Amino acid sequence: ADSYPNLQRGSHFSKITAEDVAYFESICPIISADRGATEDDLKPFNQDWMNKYRGQTRLVVKPKSTEDVSKILKHCNERKLAVVPQGGNTGLVGGSVPVFDEIVINMASMNNIRSFDEVSGILTCDAGVILETADSYLREHGYIFPLDLGAKGSCHVGGNVACNAGGLRLLRYGSLHGTVLGVEAVLPDGTILNDLSQLRKNNTGYDLKQLFIGSEGTIGIITAISIVCPQKPKSQNVAFFGVESFDKVQQTFVKTKQALSEILSAFEMMDSNSQNIVGQVTGRKHPLESKPPFYILIETSGSNPEHDSEKLNALLEDLMENEFISDGTLAESETQQKELWAWREGIAEALGHFGGVYKYDVSIPLKELYVLVDDVRAKMKDAGLLSTPENPENVVVDCVGYGHMGDSNLHLNVAVRQFDKRVEKVLEPFIYEWIQKRRGSISAEHGLGVAKSDFVQYSRGPTELAVMKGLKTMFDPNGIMNPYKYVKANA
Ligand code: FAD
Ligand code: MLT
Ligand code: ZN
Repeated sequence: ADSYPNLQRGSHFSKITAEDVAYFESICPIISADRGATEDDLKPFNQDWMNKYRGQTRLVVKPKSTEDVSKILKHCNERKLAVVPQGGNTGLVGGSVPVFDEIVINMASMNNIRSFDEVSGILTCDAGVILETADSYLREHGYIFPLDLGAKGSCHVGGNVACNAGGLRLLRYGSLHGTVLGVEAVLPDGTILNDLSQLRKNNTGYDLKQLFIGSEGTIGIITAISIVCPQKPKSQNVAFFGVESFDKVQQTFVKTKQALSEILSAFEMMDSNSQNIVGQVTGRKHPLESKPPFYILIETSGSNPEHDSEKLNALLEDLMENEFISDGTLAESETQQKELWAWREGIAEALGHFGGVYKYDVSIPLKELYVLVDDVRAKMKDAGLLSTPENPENVVVDCVGYGHMGDSNLHLNVAVRQFDKRVEKVLEPFIYEWIQKRRGSISAEHGLGVAKSDFVQYSRGPTELAVMKGLKTMFDPNGIMNPYKYVKANA
């Protein structure tokens, strides 16, 4: 795990006392080193999903209500005790675990659905509801959650909103900035901000909830959300294609949008390197026999099976005839659809099997989306760090590219046998400068956390950063909320 060599514990933060522990205990269940919790008991809260970031908390509090959160934060603010809000702890930038001894405020016990309106499709629920639970509940009522992602079985809807997760269907259902209608949040001083609106339209002043969407636990704790949900599709199709070049991937994207229009619900791109790794780790046989350099997964979601199949078949014919795609398969059952999706959704987990992963989640103008992967791979090869048939044990297992092509969002991942300074030197600042030159974003959807906090200036100008720092100071003058991360007010 990283040891944060460039960070120092804030000297103005207090250390937890026996009185603090007793006070928190009077509010809600806690897990505390002072009450016999071992390092192992605290490990799931101290360590992130990638096993890359590890903190040293001695105390986890598990509020059961908004009032509990309010009491906890008020006390922490008065005592200058630093905290980390924690959802499902599936974040990929080290934002959900402590850096030093911050208190973990874990939201898992706030997991009630508060209301659902079957006419408007508006769901209101606690922040700690697991995404898959919310989605299953909605499906029983003929709706779905507008966000879907590989970590759905563990991540919380509050965590999703806090990091403005994008996911697999953003191109169809839009970002959480559009679908989230309201947020209930507790400010660092314990004030409950009730902006849990269920209105689509509300032009009565600044849109405060938007500040919480993507704020990564730095200005308050989200305790509930309301969100407008789309109808559950009556018909769904999944197709998986092999493509011979990135130019053809782009042409296929244009053709697909033209042909499928309103029923297109996902357009995901994977390179062959990512697919080889999934195959290697899972031992499964790839759905396509040929070995093209690129793969595409297309999903349709519509209301009329015949209509959707007709459109999709016409697209397939066109793509084959014009040789945009070289190979393809169409799922014939829901099970097959899941199997095809697993070759896309399983990449993140498979990459973690070798020892470590350097993850870059970037927005790049589409034309150059894959050039970055080629450039990084070439640099690793030049540096003698990439595994090759001649040197199969080199530290870099592979450089892979995949992502949400429909949103110009590339995931460039460098899988390594262990974290290595030589690799880091090749990656940074090269990647950030590359992105800056193209006016891209160094974080498309995973956020800043601790991983990208020092690099935000590659995507944001000094004026923007100054306004952000001002906002942070206004909400959190004592800096207790998720310190050392995101846009640091004092950096
Ligand atoms: P955490 O990891 O617990 O927290 C994330 C951040 O939000 C932290 O800074 C934390 O302090 C803060 N936070 C959490 N809850 C609250 C709250 N209630 N109030 C205030 N702050 C809070 N992301 C995408 O955008 N798209 C993807 O496709 C995607 N796929 C993924 C696939 C896998 C397999 C994994 C492991 C992760 C993936 N992610 C993806 C990362 C993604 O951001 C998270 O999975 C998810 O959105 C985080 O939710 P969480 O509840 O786990 O939050
Ligand atoms: C994905 O799209 O699979 C996620 O964002 C996770 C990742 O980038 O690995
Ligand atoms: Zn993603």
